Amino acid sequence: MSYTHLFLSGVNTLAVTCRQFGDTGKGKFVDLFAEWADIIVRGTGGDNAGHTICIDDKELVVHLVPSGILYDSLGKVNVIGSGTVIYPKALCKELALLRQKNLSYDNLMIAHNAKLILPSQIVYDRAFETLLGKSKIGSTGKGIGPAYTDFVGRQSLTINDLLNPNFLHSKLEKDLNYKKLLLKKYDPSLLEDIMNCDHLESGLFYDQKDIFNLDEIYERYLFYGEELKPLIHDTDKFVRSNLRKKKILLEGAQGDLLSVEKGTYPYVTSSDCTISGLAKGAGISEGDIDMSLGIIKGFYMTRVGGGPFPTELGGRDSDDWCNNGKANKISEKLFYDGASKEDRDDEFCQGVALRIAGNEYGKTTGRPRRTGWLDLPLLRYVFEFNSSDLILTKLDILSEYEEIKICFAYQYQGSECYYGGKLIKSGEIIRVAPMDAGILSACEPMYQRFHGWKKSLDDCANYHNLPEELKDILRFITRETKANLMIISTGPDRKNTMFVDNC
Ligand code: IMP
Repeated sequence: MSYTHLFLSGVNTLAVTCRQFGDTGKGKFVDLFAEWADIIVRGTGGDNAGHTICIDDKELVVHLVPSGILYDSLGKVNVIGSGTVIYPKALCKELALLRQKNLSYDNLMIAHNAKLILPSQIVYDRAFETLLGKSKIGSTGKGIGPAYTDFVGRQSLTINDLLNPNFLHSKLEKDLNYKKLLLKKYDPSLLEDIMNCDHLESGLFYDQKDIFNLDEIYERYLFYGEELKPLIHDTDKFVRSNLRKKKILLEGAQGDLLSVEKGTYPYVTSSDCTISGLAKGAGISEGDIDMSLGIIKGFYMTRVGGGPFPTELGGRDSDDWCNNGKANKISEKLFYDGASKEDRDDEFCQGVALRIAGNEYGKTTGRPRRTGWLDLPLLRYVFEFNSSDLILTKLDILSEYEEIKICFAYQYQGSECYYGGKLIKSGEIIRVAPMDAGILSACEPMYQRFHGWKKSLDDCANYHNLPEELKDILRFITRETKANLMIISTGPDRKNTMFVDNC
Protein backbone atom coordinates (compact mmCIF):
# COMPACT_ATOMS: atom_id res chain seq x y z
CA MET A 1 0.00 0.00 0.00
CA SER A 2 1.40 3.44 -0.94
CA TYR A 3 1.93 6.08 1.72
CA THR A 4 -0.89 8.15 0.20
CA HIS A 5 -3.34 5.25 0.55
CA LEU A 6 -2.17 4.71 4.12
CA PHE A 7 -2.56 8.41 4.89
CA LEU A 8 -6.10 8.36 3.46
CA SER A 9 -7.24 5.07 4.93
CA GLY A 10 -10.83 5.37 6.12
CA VAL A 11 -11.44 8.43 3.92
CA ASN A 12 -14.03 8.22 1.14
CA THR A 13 -14.47 11.87 0.25
CA LEU A 14 -11.49 14.21 0.35
CA ALA A 15 -11.42 17.95 -0.43
CA VAL A 16 -8.30 19.95 -1.26
CA THR A 17 -8.64 23.74 -1.26
CA CYS A 18 -6.33 26.73 -0.83
CA ARG A 19 -6.31 28.74 2.41
CA GLN A 20 -4.79 31.85 0.78
CA PHE A 21 -5.36 33.79 -2.48
CA GLY A 22 -4.87 30.79 -4.78
CA ASP A 23 -1.78 29.54 -6.60
CA THR A 24 -0.37 27.54 -3.70
CA GLY A 25 0.72 24.51 -5.73
CA LYS A 26 -2.51 22.54 -5.46
CA GLY A 27 -1.86 20.76 -8.78
CA LYS A 28 0.85 18.54 -7.31
CA PHE A 29 -1.45 17.31 -4.55
CA VAL A 30 -4.52 16.90 -6.69
CA ASP A 31 -2.35 14.76 -8.94
CA LEU A 32 -1.06 12.75 -5.97
CA PHE A 33 -4.55 12.19 -4.57
CA ALA A 34 -6.10 11.56 -8.00
CA GLU A 35 -4.15 8.30 -8.05
CA TRP A 36 -6.09 7.31 -4.92
CA ALA A 37 -9.48 8.61 -6.10
CA ASP A 38 -12.05 7.05 -8.44
CA ILE A 39 -13.84 10.31 -9.14
CA ILE A 40 -12.28 13.79 -9.28
CA VAL A 41 -14.62 16.79 -9.21
CA ARG A 42 -14.25 20.52 -9.76
CA GLY A 43 -17.14 22.44 -8.26
CA THR A 44 -16.46 26.17 -8.61
CA GLY A 45 -14.99 28.80 -10.90
CA GLY A 46 -14.22 28.56 -14.59
CA ASP A 47 -11.28 29.13 -16.88
CA ASN A 48 -10.02 31.89 -14.55
CA ALA A 49 -8.21 29.05 -12.75
CA GLY A 50 -5.15 27.43 -14.23
CA HIS A 51 -3.25 24.38 -13.15
CA THR A 52 -0.20 22.67 -14.46
CA ILE A 53 -0.07 18.95 -14.99
CA CYS A 54 3.18 17.24 -15.89
CA ILE A 55 3.48 14.48 -18.46
CA ASP A 56 6.90 13.02 -19.18
CA ASP A 57 8.62 16.12 -17.84
CA LYS A 58 6.45 18.33 -20.07
CA GLU A 59 4.04 20.81 -18.57
CA LEU A 60 0.43 21.03 -19.69
CA VAL A 61 -1.63 23.94 -18.41
CA VAL A 62 -5.36 23.32 -18.14
CA HIS A 63 -8.02 25.68 -16.85
CA LEU A 64 -11.32 23.81 -16.67
CA VAL A 65 -10.77 20.07 -16.73
CA PRO A 66 -9.82 18.58 -13.36
CA SER A 67 -6.16 17.66 -12.86
CA GLY A 68 -7.16 13.99 -12.62
CA ILE A 69 -7.64 13.93 -16.41
CA LEU A 70 -4.25 12.20 -16.70
CA TYR A 71 -5.87 9.13 -15.14
CA ASP A 72 -8.84 9.00 -17.53
CA SER A 73 -7.39 6.03 -19.36
CA LEU A 74 -7.36 4.15 -16.02
CA GLY A 75 -11.13 4.54 -15.83
CA LYS A 76 -11.17 7.38 -13.31
CA VAL A 77 -14.02 9.81 -13.85
CA ASN A 78 -13.34 13.55 -13.97
CA VAL A 79 -16.29 15.85 -13.37
CA ILE A 80 -16.80 19.54 -14.12
CA GLY A 81 -19.57 20.14 -11.61
CA SER A 82 -22.76 22.19 -11.53
CA GLY A 83 -21.21 25.05 -9.54
CA THR A 84 -18.82 25.96 -12.35
CA VAL A 85 -19.20 28.48 -15.17
CA ILE A 86 -18.07 27.27 -18.58
CA TYR A 87 -16.99 29.16 -21.67
CA PRO A 88 -17.46 26.41 -24.26
CA LYS A 89 -14.74 27.76 -26.54
CA ALA A 90 -12.22 27.46 -23.69
CA LEU A 91 -13.36 23.93 -22.86
CA CYS A 92 -13.31 22.77 -26.50
CA LYS A 93 -9.80 24.22 -26.84
CA GLU A 94 -8.65 22.24 -23.82
CA LEU A 95 -10.17 19.05 -25.21
CA ALA A 96 -8.36 19.66 -28.50
CA LEU A 97 -5.10 20.01 -26.55
CA LEU A 98 -5.74 16.70 -24.79
CA ARG A 99 -6.40 15.01 -28.17
CA GLN A 100 -3.20 16.49 -29.51
CA LYS A 101 -1.28 14.98 -26.56
CA ASN A 102 -3.04 11.66 -27.06
CA LEU A 103 -4.69 11.94 -23.67
CA SER A 104 -8.09 10.35 -23.33
CA TYR A 105 -11.11 12.18 -21.90
CA ASP A 106 -13.68 9.43 -22.48
CA ASN A 107 -14.69 9.50 -18.82
CA LEU A 108 -14.98 13.27 -18.50
CA MET A 109 -18.42 14.47 -17.38
CA ILE A 110 -19.78 18.00 -17.65
CA ALA A 111 -22.72 19.07 -15.50
CA HIS A 112 -25.79 19.74 -17.60
CA ASN A 113 -26.68 22.54 -15.19
CA ALA A 114 -23.27 24.26 -15.07
CA LYS A 115 -23.70 27.85 -16.23
CA LEU A 116 -22.69 28.93 -19.71
CA ILE A 117 -20.34 31.86 -20.15
CA LEU A 118 -21.58 34.02 -23.01
CA PRO A 119 -19.64 36.49 -25.18
CA SER A 120 -21.70 39.33 -23.69
CA GLN A 121 -20.43 38.45 -20.20
CA ILE A 122 -16.81 38.51 -21.33
CA VAL A 123 -17.28 41.92 -22.96
CA TYR A 124 -19.03 43.24 -19.88
CA ASP A 125 -16.31 41.89 -17.55
CA ARG A 126 -13.56 43.65 -19.53
CA ALA A 127 -15.45 46.89 -20.17
CA PHE A 128 -16.58 47.28 -16.55
CA GLU A 129 -12.98 47.04 -15.30
CA THR A 130 -12.13 50.14 -17.35
CA LEU A 131 -14.86 52.06 -15.48
CA LEU A 132 -13.46 51.06 -12.09
CA GLY A 133 -10.07 52.62 -12.93
CA LYS A 134 -7.68 52.46 -9.96
CA SER A 135 -10.10 50.42 -7.84
CA LYS A 136 -10.47 47.71 -10.48
CA ILE A 137 -10.66 44.13 -9.24
CA GLY A 138 -8.06 42.97 -11.76
CA SER A 139 -10.35 40.23 -13.04
CA THR A 140 -8.98 37.64 -15.43
CA GLY A 141 -11.32 39.01 -18.11
CA LYS A 142 -12.93 35.61 -18.66
CA GLY A 143 -16.49 36.70 -17.90
CA ILE A 144 -16.57 34.90 -14.54
CA GLY A 145 -18.10 37.76 -12.50
CA PRO A 146 -20.90 38.60 -14.97
CA ALA A 147 -21.66 34.87 -15.45
CA TYR A 148 -22.26 34.37 -11.71
CA THR A 149 -24.05 37.74 -11.48
CA ASP A 150 -26.45 36.64 -14.24
CA PHE A 151 -27.04 33.35 -12.42
CA VAL A 152 -28.04 35.08 -9.18
CA GLY A 153 -29.99 37.63 -11.28
CA ARG A 154 -31.92 34.74 -12.88
CA GLN A 155 -30.64 35.40 -16.39
CA SER A 156 -28.26 32.46 -16.90
CA LEU A 157 -28.12 29.90 -19.66
CA THR A 158 -26.90 26.42 -18.80
CA ILE A 159 -24.80 23.85 -20.62
CA ASN A 160 -28.02 21.95 -21.27
CA ASP A 161 -29.28 24.87 -23.39
CA LEU A 162 -26.55 24.06 -25.92
CA LEU A 163 -28.45 20.88 -26.78
CA ASN A 164 -31.84 22.50 -27.37
CA PRO A 165 -31.66 24.77 -30.46
CA ASN A 166 -35.04 26.45 -30.04
CA PHE A 167 -34.52 27.41 -26.43
CA LEU A 168 -30.95 28.41 -27.14
CA HIS A 169 -31.88 30.93 -29.82
CA SER A 170 -34.52 32.74 -27.81
CA LYS A 171 -32.43 32.72 -24.62
CA LEU A 172 -29.39 34.11 -26.43
CA GLU A 173 -31.52 36.80 -28.03
CA LYS A 174 -32.89 37.83 -24.65
CA ASP A 175 -29.39 37.98 -23.16
CA LEU A 176 -27.98 40.04 -26.02
CA ASN A 177 -30.84 42.55 -25.98
CA TYR A 178 -30.38 43.06 -22.26
CA LYS A 179 -26.58 43.35 -22.46
CA LYS A 180 -26.79 45.82 -25.33
CA LEU A 181 -28.64 48.18 -23.00
CA LEU A 182 -26.04 47.74 -20.27
CA LEU A 183 -23.18 48.35 -22.69
CA LYS A 184 -24.68 51.51 -24.20
CA LYS A 185 -22.70 53.79 -21.92
CA TYR A 186 -19.33 52.43 -23.07
CA ASP A 187 -17.16 53.86 -25.84
CA PRO A 188 -18.05 51.86 -29.02
CA SER A 189 -14.38 51.64 -30.01
CA LEU A 190 -13.55 50.00 -26.66
CA LEU A 191 -16.29 47.43 -27.25
CA GLU A 192 -15.08 46.82 -30.80
CA ASP A 193 -11.52 46.24 -29.54
CA ILE A 194 -12.74 43.74 -26.96
CA MET A 195 -14.97 41.95 -29.49
CA ASN A 196 -12.00 41.57 -31.83
CA CYS A 197 -9.85 39.71 -29.32
CA ASP A 198 -8.86 36.10 -29.91
CA HIS A 199 -10.82 34.89 -26.86
CA LEU A 200 -13.99 36.17 -28.59
CA GLU A 201 -13.26 34.45 -31.90
CA SER A 202 -11.43 37.49 -33.32
CA GLY A 203 -14.50 39.55 -34.21
CA LEU A 204 -16.75 36.72 -35.42
CA PHE A 205 -19.37 37.63 -32.81
CA TYR A 206 -19.16 41.38 -33.50
CA ASP A 207 -21.79 43.49 -35.20
CA GLN A 208 -21.04 47.18 -35.63
CA LYS A 209 -24.64 48.26 -35.16
CA ASP A 210 -25.87 45.83 -32.52
CA ILE A 211 -22.51 44.97 -30.85
CA PHE A 212 -23.39 41.27 -31.02
CA ASN A 213 -24.08 39.13 -34.05
CA LEU A 214 -26.79 36.86 -32.69
CA ASP A 215 -26.74 34.40 -35.60
CA GLU A 216 -22.98 33.83 -35.46
CA ILE A 217 -23.07 33.31 -31.70
CA TYR A 218 -26.01 30.94 -32.02
CA GLU A 219 -24.33 28.86 -34.76
CA ARG A 220 -21.06 28.68 -32.87
CA TYR A 221 -22.73 27.69 -29.58
CA LEU A 222 -24.70 24.96 -31.39
CA PHE A 223 -21.39 23.68 -32.77
CA TYR A 224 -19.88 23.60 -29.27
CA GLY A 225 -22.99 21.77 -28.10
CA GLU A 226 -22.46 19.05 -30.71
CA GLU A 227 -18.87 18.60 -29.57
CA LEU A 228 -19.68 18.49 -25.87
CA LYS A 229 -22.89 16.45 -26.15
CA PRO A 230 -21.43 13.02 -25.26
CA LEU A 231 -19.91 14.48 -22.09
CA ILE A 232 -23.00 16.24 -20.69
CA HIS A 233 -24.69 14.49 -17.74
CA ASP A 234 -26.54 15.01 -14.49
CA THR A 235 -23.31 15.06 -12.51
CA ASP A 236 -24.92 16.12 -9.19
CA LYS A 237 -26.85 12.86 -9.24
CA PHE A 238 -23.77 10.90 -10.34
CA VAL A 239 -21.55 12.25 -7.54
CA ARG A 240 -24.27 11.85 -4.89
CA SER A 241 -25.02 8.29 -5.93
CA ASN A 242 -21.34 7.40 -5.53
CA LEU A 243 -20.91 8.86 -2.05
CA ARG A 244 -19.39 6.32 0.32
CA LYS A 245 -19.21 3.78 -2.55
CA LYS A 246 -16.34 5.32 -4.49
CA LYS A 247 -13.38 7.44 -3.47
CA ILE A 248 -14.15 11.03 -4.35
CA LEU A 249 -11.67 13.90 -4.56
CA LEU A 250 -13.00 17.46 -4.63
CA GLU A 251 -10.53 19.79 -6.30
CA GLY A 252 -10.75 23.43 -5.23
CA ALA A 253 -10.06 26.45 -7.42
CA GLN A 254 -8.72 29.89 -6.40
CA GLY A 255 -8.54 30.23 -2.58
CA ASP A 256 -10.58 30.96 0.56
CA LEU A 257 -9.50 34.61 0.62
CA LEU A 258 -10.90 35.08 -2.90
CA SER A 259 -14.30 33.61 -2.01
CA VAL A 260 -17.22 35.93 -2.70
CA GLU A 261 -18.74 34.77 0.62
CA LYS A 262 -15.69 34.82 2.88
CA GLY A 263 -12.87 36.65 1.12
CA THR A 264 -11.57 40.21 0.95
CA TYR A 265 -14.76 41.49 -0.68
CA PRO A 266 -15.10 43.16 -3.17
CA TYR A 267 -11.61 42.06 -4.27
CA VAL A 268 -12.67 38.47 -4.76
CA THR A 269 -13.76 36.12 -7.50
CA SER A 270 -17.51 35.59 -7.88
CA SER A 271 -17.81 32.00 -6.68
CA ASP A 272 -17.66 30.62 -3.16
CA CYS A 273 -14.37 28.78 -3.46
CA THR A 274 -14.33 27.68 0.19
CA ILE A 275 -14.99 24.08 1.07
CA SER A 276 -18.72 24.68 1.49
CA GLY A 277 -19.04 26.26 -1.97
CA LEU A 278 -16.95 23.48 -3.45
CA ALA A 279 -19.11 20.75 -1.93
CA LYS A 280 -22.30 22.44 -3.14
CA GLY A 281 -20.88 22.93 -6.62
CA ALA A 282 -19.99 19.24 -6.75
CA GLY A 283 -23.56 18.24 -5.86
CA ILE A 284 -23.02 17.21 -2.23
CA SER A 285 -22.94 18.93 1.14
CA GLU A 286 -20.00 19.89 3.31
CA GLY A 287 -20.97 17.23 5.85
CA ASP A 288 -20.32 14.53 3.24
CA ILE A 289 -16.60 15.35 3.26
CA ASP A 290 -14.44 13.07 5.43
CA MET A 291 -11.21 15.00 5.18
CA SER A 292 -10.55 18.56 4.14
CA LEU A 293 -6.97 19.63 3.48
CA GLY A 294 -6.00 23.27 3.07
CA ILE A 295 -2.89 24.44 1.25
CA ILE A 296 -0.62 27.38 2.03
CA LYS A 297 2.81 28.33 0.74
CA GLY A 298 5.74 28.18 3.13
CA PHE A 299 6.46 30.94 4.23
CA TYR A 300 5.25 33.48 1.72
CA MET A 301 2.06 34.44 -0.06
CA THR A 302 0.99 35.75 -3.44
CA ARG A 303 -2.01 37.61 -4.76
CA VAL A 304 -3.05 38.36 -8.37
CA GLY A 305 -5.07 41.45 -9.25
CA GLY A 306 -6.22 44.17 -6.85
CA GLY A 307 -7.14 44.12 -3.16
CA PRO A 308 -5.55 44.42 0.28
CA PHE A 309 -2.38 42.45 1.02
CA PRO A 310 -0.86 43.64 4.32
CA THR A 311 2.48 41.83 4.07
CA GLU A 312 3.15 42.71 0.42
CA LEU A 313 6.84 43.33 -0.23
CA GLY A 314 7.06 46.82 -1.67
CA GLY A 315 3.45 47.67 -0.74
CA ARG A 316 1.67 50.10 -3.07
CA ASP A 317 4.61 50.18 -5.54
CA SER A 318 4.47 46.42 -5.93
CA ASP A 319 0.68 46.50 -6.41
CA ASP A 320 0.97 49.19 -9.13
CA TRP A 321 3.86 47.43 -10.83
CA CYS A 322 2.19 44.02 -10.94
CA ASN A 323 -1.08 45.45 -12.18
CA ASN A 324 0.26 47.88 -14.77
CA GLY A 325 -0.15 45.30 -17.52
CA LYS A 326 3.47 45.70 -18.68
CA ALA A 327 5.65 43.74 -16.27
CA ASN A 328 6.27 40.10 -17.11
CA LYS A 329 8.70 37.31 -16.33
CA ILE A 330 11.31 38.42 -18.88
CA SER A 331 11.20 42.15 -18.10
CA GLU A 332 11.43 41.41 -14.37
CA LYS A 333 14.48 39.21 -14.79
CA LEU A 334 16.22 41.98 -16.76
CA PHE A 335 15.19 44.54 -14.14
CA TYR A 336 16.51 42.44 -11.26
CA ASP A 337 19.78 41.49 -12.98
CA GLY A 338 20.43 45.17 -13.64
CA ALA A 339 19.68 46.30 -10.06
CA SER A 340 22.51 47.53 -7.82
CA LYS A 341 23.30 45.89 -4.46
CA GLU A 342 21.58 48.80 -2.70
CA ASP A 343 18.46 48.46 -4.83
CA ARG A 344 18.31 44.76 -4.11
CA ASP A 345 18.06 45.51 -0.40
CA ASP A 346 14.88 47.43 -1.06
CA GLU A 347 11.60 45.62 -0.23
CA PHE A 348 10.16 46.16 -3.68
CA CYS A 349 13.18 44.48 -5.24
CA GLN A 350 12.95 41.64 -2.70
CA GLY A 351 9.39 41.10 -3.87
CA VAL A 352 10.59 40.84 -7.47
CA ALA A 353 13.33 38.39 -6.41
CA LEU A 354 10.79 36.22 -4.58
CA ARG A 355 8.54 36.23 -7.65
CA ILE A 356 11.41 35.11 -9.85
CA ALA A 357 12.55 32.44 -7.36
CA GLY A 358 9.03 31.01 -6.98
CA ASN A 359 8.11 31.50 -10.68
CA GLU A 360 5.08 33.43 -9.50
CA TYR A 361 3.47 34.41 -12.79
CA GLY A 362 -0.20 33.72 -13.57
CA LYS A 363 -0.95 30.53 -15.52
CA THR A 364 -4.08 32.11 -16.98
CA THR A 365 -2.97 35.68 -17.63
CA GLY A 366 0.85 35.63 -17.30
CA ARG A 367 0.56 38.52 -14.83
CA PRO A 368 3.19 38.87 -12.09
CA ARG A 369 1.76 37.77 -8.75
CA ARG A 370 2.21 40.24 -5.89
CA THR A 371 4.46 38.67 -3.23
CA GLY A 372 4.68 39.02 0.55
CA TRP A 373 5.47 37.19 3.79
CA LEU A 374 3.17 34.62 5.37
CA ASP A 375 0.33 36.36 7.23
CA LEU A 376 -0.96 34.51 10.31
CA PRO A 377 -3.91 36.88 11.05
CA LEU A 378 -5.31 35.89 7.63
CA LEU A 379 -4.69 32.22 8.41
CA ARG A 380 -6.41 32.48 11.81
CA TYR A 381 -9.37 34.05 10.01
CA VAL A 382 -9.76 31.23 7.44
CA PHE A 383 -9.45 28.62 10.17
CA GLU A 384 -12.59 30.09 11.75
CA PHE A 385 -14.74 28.51 9.03
CA ASN A 386 -12.43 25.83 7.66
CA SER A 387 -10.48 22.81 8.68
CA SER A 388 -6.99 23.68 9.94
CA ASP A 389 -5.43 20.48 8.51
CA LEU A 390 -2.65 21.87 6.38
CA ILE A 391 -0.36 21.14 3.47
CA LEU A 392 2.65 23.46 3.28
CA THR A 393 4.12 23.84 -0.21
CA LYS A 394 7.12 25.38 -1.97
CA LEU A 395 9.42 25.35 1.07
CA ASP A 396 12.43 24.96 -1.24
CA ILE A 397 11.90 28.50 -2.61
CA LEU A 398 13.22 30.12 0.59
CA SER A 399 16.19 27.79 1.10
CA GLU A 400 18.74 30.52 0.30
CA TYR A 401 17.19 33.15 2.57
CA GLU A 402 19.22 34.62 5.48
CA GLU A 403 16.10 35.74 7.28
CA ILE A 404 12.43 34.74 7.20
CA LYS A 405 9.72 37.04 8.53
CA ILE A 406 6.31 35.86 9.67
CA CYS A 407 3.50 38.31 10.35
CA PHE A 408 1.90 37.29 13.67
CA ALA A 409 -0.43 40.31 14.20
CA TYR A 410 -1.37 43.72 12.79
CA GLN A 411 -1.32 47.18 14.23
CA TYR A 412 -4.34 49.10 12.97
CA GLN A 413 -3.35 52.50 11.62
CA GLY A 414 -6.59 53.84 10.14
CA SER A 415 -9.26 56.10 11.56
CA GLU A 416 -11.74 54.81 14.17
CA CYS A 417 -14.25 52.42 12.69
CA TYR A 418 -16.61 49.60 13.57
CA TYR A 419 -15.99 45.98 12.73
CA GLY A 420 -18.00 43.02 14.02
CA GLY A 421 -19.98 45.36 16.28
CA LYS A 422 -16.82 46.66 18.00
CA LEU A 423 -15.01 49.96 17.70
CA ILE A 424 -11.44 49.67 16.41
CA LYS A 425 -9.05 52.50 17.26
CA SER A 426 -5.78 53.50 15.70
CA GLY A 427 -2.83 51.69 17.31
CA GLU A 428 -4.91 48.66 18.28
CA ILE A 429 -3.35 45.22 17.87
CA ILE A 430 -5.38 42.81 15.72
CA ARG A 431 -4.73 39.06 15.71
CA VAL A 432 -7.51 37.84 13.42
CA ALA A 433 -7.71 39.59 10.04
CA PRO A 434 -10.86 41.71 9.59
CA MET A 435 -12.59 40.85 6.30
CA ASP A 436 -13.23 44.41 5.26
CA ALA A 437 -11.05 45.62 2.40
CA GLY A 438 -10.77 49.18 3.75
CA ILE A 439 -9.89 48.14 7.31
CA LEU A 440 -7.47 45.47 6.14
CA SER A 441 -5.67 48.01 3.96
CA ALA A 442 -4.98 50.09 7.07
CA CYS A 443 -3.39 47.16 8.97
CA GLU A 444 0.40 47.28 9.39
CA PRO A 445 2.01 43.84 9.79
CA MET A 446 4.00 43.02 12.93
CA TYR A 447 6.76 40.51 12.25
CA GLN A 448 8.60 37.78 14.10
CA ARG A 449 12.04 37.32 12.53
CA PHE A 450 13.68 33.92 12.10
CA HIS A 451 17.08 32.77 10.85
CA GLY A 452 16.87 31.10 7.46
CA TRP A 453 18.04 27.46 7.21
CA LYS A 454 20.34 28.22 4.27
CA LYS A 455 20.65 24.74 2.86
CA SER A 456 18.92 22.63 0.26
CA LEU A 457 16.08 20.43 1.47
CA ASP A 458 16.65 17.85 -1.26
CA ASP A 459 18.12 15.28 1.11
CA CYS A 460 15.48 15.64 3.80
CA ALA A 461 13.46 12.44 3.64
CA ASN A 462 11.19 13.22 6.58
CA TYR A 463 10.18 15.86 9.06
CA HIS A 464 12.86 14.91 11.56
CA ASN A 465 15.61 15.55 8.98
CA LEU A 466 14.50 19.12 8.39
CA PRO A 467 16.92 21.85 9.61
CA GLU A 468 16.23 23.05 13.17
CA GLU A 469 15.78 26.67 11.97
CA LEU A 470 12.95 25.52 9.73
CA LYS A 471 11.34 23.40 12.43
CA ASP A 472 11.39 26.44 14.75
CA ILE A 473 9.28 28.34 12.23
CA LEU A 474 6.88 25.42 11.80
CA ARG A 475 6.42 25.14 15.55
CA PHE A 476 5.79 28.89 15.78
CA ILE A 477 3.07 28.72 13.10
CA THR A 478 1.30 25.73 14.63
CA ARG A 479 1.45 27.29 18.11
CA GLU A 480 0.16 30.66 16.88
CA THR A 481 -2.68 29.37 14.70
CA LYS A 482 -3.47 25.85 16.02
CA ALA A 483 -2.78 24.57 12.50
CA ASN A 484 -2.47 20.82 12.16
CA LEU A 485 0.46 20.43 9.79
CA MET A 486 -0.01 17.18 7.87
CA ILE A 487 2.10 17.36 4.71
CA ILE A 488 5.18 19.34 3.69
CA SER A 489 6.28 19.81 0.09
CA THR A 490 9.88 20.76 -0.58
CA GLY A 491 9.80 20.66 -4.38
CA PRO A 492 7.61 19.95 -7.40
CA ASP A 493 8.47 16.28 -7.56
CA ARG A 494 6.45 13.64 -5.73
CA LYS A 495 9.55 12.47 -3.88
CA ASN A 496 9.77 15.96 -2.30
CA THR A 497 6.74 15.23 -0.13
CA MET A 498 6.72 14.40 3.57
CA PHE A 499 3.86 13.33 5.76
CA VAL A 500 4.16 14.81 9.24
CA ASP A 501 3.24 12.66 12.25
CA ASN A 502 4.18 15.00 14.99
CA CYS A 503 5.30 18.60 14.56
P1 IMP B 1 -12.21 36.79 -11.79
O1 IMP B 1 -12.29 35.48 -11.09
O2 IMP B 1 -11.66 36.68 -13.19
O3 IMP B 1 -13.50 37.55 -11.74
O4 IMP B 1 -11.14 37.69 -11.01
C1 IMP B 1 -11.40 38.19 -9.70
C2 IMP B 1 -10.13 38.21 -8.86
O5 IMP B 1 -9.73 36.87 -8.56
C3 IMP B 1 -8.93 38.85 -9.56
O6 IMP B 1 -8.15 39.54 -8.61
C4 IMP B 1 -8.17 37.66 -10.12
O7 IMP B 1 -6.80 37.94 -10.29
C5 IMP B 1 -8.39 36.65 -8.99
N1 IMP B 1 -8.31 35.27 -9.48
C6 IMP B 1 -9.19 34.60 -10.24
N2 IMP B 1 -8.78 33.35 -10.46
C7 IMP B 1 -7.60 33.21 -9.84
C8 IMP B 1 -6.68 32.10 -9.68
O8 IMP B 1 -6.88 30.99 -10.17
N3 IMP B 1 -5.57 32.37 -8.92
C9 IMP B 1 -5.34 33.58 -8.34
N4 IMP B 1 -6.17 34.62 -8.46
C10 IMP B 1 -7.30 34.44 -9.20
